[in-house]
Amino acid sequence: MQNLKRNFSIIAHIDHGKSTIADRLLEMTGTVTEREMKEQLLDSMDLEREKGITIKAQAVTLNYTAADGNKYELNLIDTPGHVDFIYEVSRSLAACDGALLVVDAAQGIEAQTLANVYLALEHDLEILPVINKIDLPSADPEKVKLEIEDIIGLPTDNAVLVSGKTGLGIDELLEAIVKYIPEPKGGMSSPLKALIFDSHYDDFRGVITYVRVIDGVIKKGDKIKIMSTNKEFEVLETGIFSPKMTEKNELSVGSVGYIITGVKSIKDTQVGDTITHVKNPAEKPLEGYRPAQSMVFAGIYPISTDDYEDLREALEKLQLNDASLTYVPETSIALGFGFRCGFLGLLHMEIIVERLRREFDIDLISTAPSVEYHVTTETGEHLIIDNPAEFPAGKKSIEEPYIKGTIIVPRDYVGNVMELCQEKRGTYIDMSYLDETRTMLRYDLPLADVVIDFYDKLKSRTRGYASFEYEMIGYKESDLVKVDILVSGNVVDAFSFIAHKDHAFNRGRSIVERLKEVIPRQQFEIPLQAALGSKIIARETIRALRKNVLAKCYGGDISRKKKLLEKQKEGKKRMKAIGNVEIPQEAFLSVLKLN
Ligand code: GTP
Repeated sequence: MQNLKRNFSIIAHIDHGKSTIADRLLEMTGTVTEREMKEQLLDSMDLEREKGITIKAQAVTLNYTAADGNKYELNLIDTPGHVDFIYEVSRSLAACDGALLVVDAAQGIEAQTLANVYLALEHDLEILPVINKIDLPSADPEKVKLEIEDIIGLPTDNAVLVSGKTGLGIDELLEAIVKYIPEPKGGMSSPLKALIFDSHYDDFRGVITYVRVIDGVIKKGDKIKIMSTNKEFEVLETGIFSPKMTEKNELSVGSVGYIITGVKSIKDTQVGDTITHVKNPAEKPLEGYRPAQSMVFAGIYPISTDDYEDLREALEKLQLNDASLTYVPETSIALGFGFRCGFLGLLHMEIIVERLRREFDIDLISTAPSVEYHVTTETGEHLIIDNPAEFPAGKKSIEEPYIKGTIIVPRDYVGNVMELCQEKRGTYIDMSYLDETRTMLRYDLPLADVVIDFYDKLKSRTRGYASFEYEMIGYKESDLVKVDILVSGNVVDAFSFIAHKDHAFNRGRSIVERLKEVIPRQQFEIPLQAALGSKIIARETIRALRKNVLAKCYGGDISRKKKLLEKQKEGKKRMKAIGNVEIPQEAFLSVLKLN
């Protein structure tokens, strides 16, 4: 029997028009009316909209009556648009049989497009090229077609030319989806195999698990188990997204939808895992599952100690919906009580910190992001550390994580990019020309240097023209040291950092210079030092204060005097005492930023 489902996702570089095309498909199939159409429905979180990126994968089912008279069920699975979420992207693609490759007719192929196309090809997806923005005067679809053929090696005979903006070509696109995206393979009577490609926690209904059924049928009342953990649950509801959650009696081969079970935590239905029946289970799970793994770590501290419990509750809430966020309590001499948190990447960290501030209204400080180091001590012990404070004094060797970075940039900026990669301890791999203007560079880079400010620097040194993508390649031995910052002879743990030996001096010096500017002068002299073990590598001194705050008001106005004293008291509240030195909150912020 013919399967009338088609499962696909859209691969595109940021801004090439993925959301706009998705909106048009929803509109044309009557899935949502124009009136209901909030702009860019698929990106539902405020932050996502603001940052202009898709964070979580989502799905929607479109009903389409094709020219052949058949009623098709088209499932569009949205993929996250950022390197931090590459694993989620790979699982969303695994739920599809094909992908639309959307390329901006005026811009051509970018690094992110390439990375996702390779990912889609790894999953054996049929790729349908879609050239968007053909309404633009600068559009050059023929050139973009050639690029797709040359760079990706993908034939473009069936490419569809569209304008997401005007709706031109969207009819043809729907027909092409039915024609070129393969129908789902799988046996209706085979043991159940359903891939979990996303899940989220709903306050009222508990965990909603997003699945794609590969084999078999799943329905209400079924006893199911999660294959990696063997945990068993009962199915309370099955349904599809159209785009709202809509109950359906069953999901079968090729269906994309949700199931609700009694699962309390999304940790129990992790992305990539396989669901099967307790009776007549599948023999083997689907390939490619791995548990969520943090890559970047930082301490998060409330500015006011009163907020500590609120911060714990907020992290707990966020974790309900985010299996890749980890946190454990941590104390710092300088910052007090807080949490050591693990993130997928720097963007993920920024999003979490921003949500803690906005949604939970907590003022906080985050320490400089760090990666996980593998250390072998002199006694032969193997340690995994992600916090400079835990760096052992005696060590034999230390390894750090490396990535392979792909950068696509206009030719004029190649020099700048090479210089930046050099500064970031990169190892050049190769360079190739995509066309007469654009160059693709590949470098191996230490992750620690990429997470700090690589992407920002890349953007500013190429005036925003570079695109960047990376993949983890493993651990390499490196000459790394821990640098401490001392204020009046006391180590301020929040400022300690791990760096390559060649960078330790410069970073240490820039921190003490910065501190000199931001710590107010006090009644005594304050030495600021950067130290590598017991060796001082940089030093500045804040000279003692002679004046007092009231010196400026020549007697006179008493209310003004009061105001100044009040102001000073306010300032004190936001100071942390290190030994006998008061360090203002701003000092932590500015130094940690610099890091
Ligand atoms: P991310 O969500 O950031 O990944 O971007 P996206 O790929 O979803 O792009 P989006 O749909 O947000 O479009 C990016 C910009 O291009 C928006 O300003 C759109 O209005 C514009 N745009 C999209 N399609 C077209 C088109 O066909 N023609 C023109 N002229 N502009 C378009």
